[in-house]
Amino acid sequence: MFGSKAVVGLDIGTDKVKAIQLRKKGGSYELERVGVADIHPDGERRATGSELQQLKIAAVRQALEQGRITAKYAVSAVSGESIIVRYIQLPQMPEAELKNALRWEAEEYIPFSIDEVNLDSVILGKTNDNKVDVLLVCAKKDMVGDHMEIVRTVGLTPLVVDVDSFAFLNCYEAAYKPAASDCVALVNIGAGITNINIYVGGTSRFARDISIAGDAMTTAIAQKMQQPFAKAEQAKHSLSAPIADDVEGTDEEESSLISSIRGTVERMTGSDFADDSAEAGAQKAVRNVLTNLVGEVRRSIQFFENQGGGATVQRVYLGGGTARMARLPEWLSAELELPVELLDPLRGFSIGSGVDQSTLGSVKEHLGVGIGLSLRKVG
Ligand SMILES: Nc1ncnc2c1ncn2[C@@H]1O[C@H](COP(=O)(O)OP(=O)(O)OP(=O)(O)O)[C@@H](O)[C@H]1O
Ligand SMILES: [Mg+2]
Repeated sequence: MFGSKAVVGLDIGTDKVKAIQLRKKGGSYELERVGVADIHPDGERRATGSELQQLKIAAVRQALEQGRITAKYAVSAVSGESIIVRYIQLPQMPEAELKNALRWEAEEYIPFSIDEVNLDSVILGKTNDNKVDVLLVCAKKDMVGDHMEIVRTVGLTPLVVDVDSFAFLNCYEAAYKPAASDCVALVNIGAGITNINIYVGGTSRFARDISIAGDAMTTAIAQKMQQPFAKAEQAKHSLSAPIADDVEGTDEEESSLISSIRGTVERMTGSDFADDSAEAGAQKAVRNVLTNLVGEVRRSIQFFENQGGGATVQRVYLGGGTARMARLPEWLSAELELPVELLDPLRGFSIGSGVDQSTLGSVKEHLGVGIGLSLRKVG
């Protein structure tokens, strides 16, 4: 049968499952199949443990079916704050010794027993003083085990279990073909997690996951409005990022102008403008979460730049469903004082006839990780 060797890139997120099948076409790629499914059918976030596991399995099945995915092999990924990523330098040594040395190194960094984690490493390059730069990644075995169980239960054979942040980076590389001198921050803002990855000299030099993303906004809105999560989620989609303080709202609508004035008054008086509407409360909740999020991104960039490699971040690329929030790139750009743009995960790719172009438009931002995963083994 056709496609028996094909691979599906399976991104099992906090909110949605994305299933991607690519194929090589000439010197580029074609998006052959894509399926997206919600994990939480009622839009709430109550499920945990085995109940959540079952919801994920059902959503993966639905995504595979919706995308008419024929692949039997999966490349998937895990993510989250419990994944430990370290960049270390070791003296050059034979590979077997290096593996041992890395185990010792890892023991220093992980807050649990080395036997509880899966350990992986990538040699990033050699330094001038006869050392090697190594990327060390540790993920807890039980987390990876739960993840593999989902993949196997739906009848797929897991080929690779990657990490979201590096899959997103992989997508960026394929779509943008950056020069070795490019230094960019990749920020993938999903529902539960934001992946921050800094790319320089043709490789990753900083990676961190933080638990501030779309769900944190929805939860904050739900609290402000005293509404269930699903209601707050709906409300969130009509909100936007704050007006950037130093962006002149020349072509903004009047309502934006008013909220801008309100923001100025709030800053001057330190108190709320006399608008206690639910919408104003929700907008404020979003602003608080975004302020925390941008603080983490800023700190990450500063940490990277202070390491002394001499590189400075030139640009920020955004992805993930939360990147769809109106005005987010503009606001982040003003906050970070850097150019910020949405990453187009399909830049330079062709779209197969089996893909519905109109639905693709509304899910594109969600696809970076899935595309990066399916690129790992395509062909
Ligand atoms: N127009 C929009 N405005 C704001 N947020 C949006 C919009 N559209 C989608 N989102 C948010 O995108 C998030 C889902 O994005 P994504 O699919 O990237 O997350 P995920 O991969 O499931 O989760 P994670 O990677 O965090 O585990 C949800 O929080 C959803 O509310
Ligand atoms: Mg995600």
